[in-house]
Amino acid sequence: MFNMFKRKPKAIRIGDIAPDFKAETTTGDINFHEWIGNSYAMIFSHPKDFTPVCSTELSRTAALKPEFDKRNCKIIGLSVDSVSEHTSWESDIADVCSNFNGAPINFPLIADKDKKIAELYGMIHPAELDNLTIRSVFIIGPDKKVKLMMTYPASTGRNFNEILRALDSIRLTADHKVATPVDWKNGDDCIIVPNVDDIKAKELFPNGWNALKPYLRIVSDPTNNQNK
Ligand code: BEZ
Repeated sequence: MFNMFKRKPKAIRIGDIAPDFKAETTTGDINFHEWIGNSYAMIFSHPKDFTPVCSTELSRTAALKPEFDKRNCKIIGLSVDSVSEHTSWESDIADVCSNFNGAPINFPLIADKDKKIAELYGMIHPAELDNLTIRSVFIIGPDKKVKLMMTYPASTGRNFNEILRALDSIRLTADHKVATPVDWKNGDDCIIVPNVDDIKAKELFPNGWNALKPYLRIVSDPTNNQNK
């Protein structure tokens, strides 16, 4: 029955401070914000341990961990299973990971048995998957603000290369007055953000830009020395 006195946590939006929490994980207890420290962080949920798609996703993420490390981004998984279930499932994943271009799990998994963190982050979608966490991803910055949110259905495995691509964009645009166009990848041309007028743009991009329209100004990647 609907409990009118149970307050639902407020929905998280990009730009919000990511809710802080204490949690039990496969590598010990953590305080989330403290654990993030001065890094970026990806917290991502999967529906259940010992399920097929989740096994492929977590092993692939483990294989990509060096790429997350290069980008100063920590990784932490979450589901409503216990630490002992997580560790037992990790052995299964180690057995099969080579089939999925994956690796044995090399990052902590949060045991959220009482669903407190899942509720806090809006990872429970009863209409999609009854009382389990669906496939949610949050990228959080060193400032503890939410930079990206993604929600996938239980039946669709995620592409963590796309998350790395988005992380590259997030890190670039945090430091430079550019945005990144469709299908952009590291090193490709960027777009001067609309709130930089042409006078300011001349200062920031002395090598110039290609204005396809007054609002669509293409500039080379500002981390290439040309524009420094
Ligand atoms: C899976 O990981 O395969 C899965 C988990 C929950 C629902 C559907 C698929």
